[in-house]
Amino acid sequence: MSLNSFSTAIHGRLPRTVVDIAILAMLNHSQSVQSHTGLSFCSQDKENSHLSCIVLITSTNQRNKMKLTGNTVLITGGSSGIGLEIAKRFLKRDNTVIITGRNERKLQQAREQFEGLTVIQNDVSNPEDIATLFQRIEKDFPDLNILINNAGIMRKINLQNHSDSALELTKEIDINIKGLVWMSNAFLSLLKEKKNAAIVNVSSGLAFVPLPISPVYCAAKAAVHSYTLSLREQLRNTGIKVFELAPPATNTELLTVFGEEMEGTTIMSTEAMVGTFFKGLSKDQYEIRPGQSNLLKFMSRFFPNFILKQLSKSVELMHADKRVA
Ligand SMILES: NC(=O)c1ccc[n+]([C@@H]2O[C@H](COP(=O)([O-])OP(=O)(O)OC[C@H]3O[C@@H](n4cnc5c(N)ncnc54)[C@H](OP(=O)(O)O)[C@@H]3O)[C@@H](O)[C@H]2O)c1
Repeated sequence: MSLNSFSTAIHGRLPRTVVDIAILAMLNHSQSVQSHTGLSFCSQDKENSHLSCIVLITSTNQRNKMKLTGNTVLITGGSSGIGLEIAKRFLKRDNTVIITGRNERKLQQAREQFEGLTVIQNDVSNPEDIATLFQRIEKDFPDLNILINNAGIMRKINLQNHSDSALELTKEIDINIKGLVWMSNAFLSLLKEKKNAAIVNVSSGLAFVPLPISPVYCAAKAAVHSYTLSLREQLRNTGIKVFELAPPATNTELLTVFGEEMEGTTIMSTEAMVGTFFKGLSKDQYEIRPGQSNLLKFMSRFFPNFILKQLSKSVELMHADKRVA
């Protein structure tokens, strides 16, 4: 029985939430297999209306787990924060690591900090830059087998009162989603030839429910989540595994635009967040949701209005702050 027919079969017998929790648990489990078949046996105890289900999910296409040494890894936006921490850990495990970013000074600092790191100045929101990057990687690093689409920016935008041009307004669309789609597309041919190949797309816990003071960012991250689901399905018959890392609020430069709005928010250290990422990667967990991101996904599924209201509290602060244009 497929997941859909399983859902249809038991809806109506249990409160919807209970059924959905069961299905979510199945989906969480099935994330770790690239291809699965679901089998379920349900029986209802007439006396106490108790429904028992046994769910079996078997992998039909077991692959070897990701190897975390001996890879050639390209990380976009690797000059600070999450990208730099990922680079550091891959370097420690004897991988060849290349990072990109726009700011040459930040890249040079990263290179001085980590021996063996290759840095390339590059803007993912510029298709010509991506084409040049591809040529360089194909020539100098033909063994590339892991692409980590991490580059991203995040801004507060007051939709009622901003002075941005149309192009400026949608900058996160250009960098966070268009850049990621273009990079994946450009490097696909190179990755397809490789064993142990992967694309990792960095989304956000805010892909599941928006923080309304950052409307374009959250829309872009929701698109990253959706695109990653499609990419994973389309590449299922190739050797490329498609991962999504959805970080929660993490202590990096990205959050420096926020002040009071972050009060009460649990902020994860970059080291702990990236540690969870590596654990997920080593277990072929295709959707990695560290810390609060897991809760955000759960809440967005079962209590969508409540969680949106919670995340909307900072809108009033933004309206009161005349500096946010
Ligand atoms: N920190 C969080 O709370 C959090 C939560 C969820 C998701 N994330 C996601 O995690 C990823 C990394 O962010 P971070 O927190 O590590 O922030 P960060 O320290 O600001 O790092 C962002 C990186 O992206 C680079 N970048 C920005 N625009 C770029 C472009 N057009 N082309 C190439 N590189 C570009 C930056 O370098 P340059 O500016 O020099 O280009 C920098 O290396 C982002 O996708 C972000 O959305 C972060």
